[in-house]
Amino acid sequence: MKQAIQAIAIPLFRNVTRFWFIVTYCGQLIFAYYILMLYYKSTVLGDFEKWNTASPHFYTKGDVVGNLIFGLHVALAAVVTILGPLQLVPKIRNKVPGIHRICGRIYIFSAFLISAAGLYLTWVRGAIGGPFSAIGISINGLIIIVCAFFAIRYAMQRNIKLHNQWAVHLLLAMSGVWLFRVFFMLWMVIHRAPVGFDPETFTGPFLNALAVFVYILPQAVVALYFKAKFSNSANKKLAFSLLLFVITIGTAVGTVGAISGMWLPRI
Ligand code: HEM
Repeated sequence: MKQAIQAIAIPLFRNVTRFWFIVTYCGQLIFAYYILMLYYKSTVLGDFEKWNTASPHFYTKGDVVGNLIFGLHVALAAVVTILGPLQLVPKIRNKVPGIHRICGRIYIFSAFLISAAGLYLTWVRGAIGGPFSAIGISINGLIIIVCAFFAIRYAMQRNIKLHNQWAVHLLLAMSGVWLFRVFFMLWMVIHRAPVGFDPETFTGPFLNALAVFVYILPQAVVALYFKAKFSNSANKKLAFSLLLFVITIGTAVGTVGAISGMWLPRI
């Protein structure tokens, strides 16, 4: 009996993880497409007013520094969103290690820059949402910086096991803003109305809870993933597979909501 459960648990764990990866990467590629079509395209065409489609203060006439930093932020956003998940594909790492190393350096450098730019946008330029949102996303920025530091440090020390673990923590931290949009839209799909927050000020208990859910909780899920992966216990693998399956279904529905309700209408 124990052996039968073990025989189910290992492939289930592997396949649910792959399912999560495919759903997440497809969703992130569509987010990157949105960034390219909205921000890259309008920048190339010199139509900076178009930056204000999502929010009216992204392009502010006369604020050269603020505009440049926002431009840098969204320029890097597309790069990291496309590159990040590919770094975790074992086939790419093994077949073309040189590409993995070059992309890894670009990714880590971009992680530091995008977080620094994000902190500037949050605290100097001012963003929509209340202080809780500002603190939440800043914690996300700090988590990114810490994970990027350890991912590169262990890569340089050739400690591949720890490098890999920090890289997965980093990917989930870098996915925080994407997760925010996806789970925000999942909530909207479920309620079909702004429940638990004020759509004018973009503040409220739901948004506070969402910030914790997308910026902090994924780090615990990654820790659980490695616990289950390295454990001999079939039950741990089964329990984690179930948890990840539920998260993936929520992610898939939220992504469809974000595509139809947020990204496509803006481009
Ligand atoms: C690393 C992954 C990140 C990506 C892919 C990303 C992506 C984006 C995108 C696409 C926008 C434009 C808004 C939109 O069209 O949806 C944006 C805006 C913004 N981001 Fe990021 N971002 C990331 C990280 C961060 C971090 C770590 C911070 C804060 C520390 C941050 C703070 C901001 C702020 C403040 C804005 C402007 C929002 C406003 O003024 O209301 N971002 N980001």
